[in-house]
Amino acid sequence: MKKDLLSLLDLSHEDIEKILSRAAFYKKNRKKRKNATLLKGQSIALIFEKASTRTKVSFSVAIHQLGGHVVELDEKGSQLGRGETYMDTARVLAGYVDAIVCRTYAQNNLEQMAHSVSIPVINALSDLYHPCQVLADLLTLQGHKRNFLDQKVVYLGDGNNMANTWITAAMVLGFPLVVATPRGFEPPAAILKHLHQQASDSITLLNDPYKAVQGADVIYTDTWFSMGQEVSREKKEAFQGFQVNQELLKKANKNAIVLHCLPAHRNEEITSEVMDGPQSRIFEEAENRLYVQKAILEIILLTRNKV
Ligand code: CP
Ligand code: NVA
Repeated sequence: MKKDLLSLLDLSHEDIEKILSRAAFYKKNRKKRKNATLLKGQSIALIFEKASTRTKVSFSVAIHQLGGHVVELDEKGSQLGRGETYMDTARVLAGYVDAIVCRTYAQNNLEQMAHSVSIPVINALSDLYHPCQVLADLLTLQGHKRNFLDQKVVYLGDGNNMANTWITAAMVLGFPLVVATPRGFEPPAAILKHLHQQASDSITLLNDPYKAVQGADVIYTDTWFSMGQEVSREKKEAFQGFQVNQELLKKANKNAIVLHCLPAHRNEEITSEVMDGPQSRIFEEAENRLYVQKAILEIILLTRNKV
């Protein structure tokens, strides 16, 4: 296991299996609060330069329940907001804490931090990737479908950090993935380059949402306007037809499940009927963030302490 978790490409198939297995353990034992002293004496810095409900709270609670201590920083209240570099910030924090969990804009900010310190750096979302979220999504799939690696996952919507992370998940694990975006909103060139290098035939990019969902076992969507992006009428128009609604869901397999990383814009990218309907696993998916954060912390911090 690598020191840092900046992208799912930092993990092997085996690493992901291990994280999911430990997360399932924490889920099964959620009432027993297992490993309450695992992080005793350890402090973890949470740097959030963008808004967060699930990631911040699930990491804070996970650290607390494992006996560790959380130190929270944001852009405005720290010297990052006054231009101190990510490298200098990380080097200073490494003198105090045992790991850094960071939500930021550029993936490069995380890479700079990770390269300048020997403590682990965990990506809590960047403009490019959101690895902790997709690990929780995989745990959700595993809870519902035994052989989840044979399931056809269809990501519908913007070619954003979630789409990119699903692509990296499929690259590492090899399950069939379809990413359908409106024309012009495909994942960025850096991601497509990875794809072409791997020449994976299990990942398909489409622009037709109805064609994409045929035979889908899992339908995944996300906001059309990620944090930091301006809401525009033109973009909304381009996404017509990509809303996850009952009519679209009917084209998927009968037992297909619906996931969304949240926060959702109800009745924009997904209808309330689908979000609250029988095929939605969205709120379980959000809860799974807690178990996965525990597994990530356990594996990354224990691996490091053994070195
Ligand atoms: N899904 C997710 O990361 O949610 P938050 O932005 O609330 O952390
Ligand atoms: N694509 C979304 C994900 C939020 C969890 C964003 O970056 O805002």
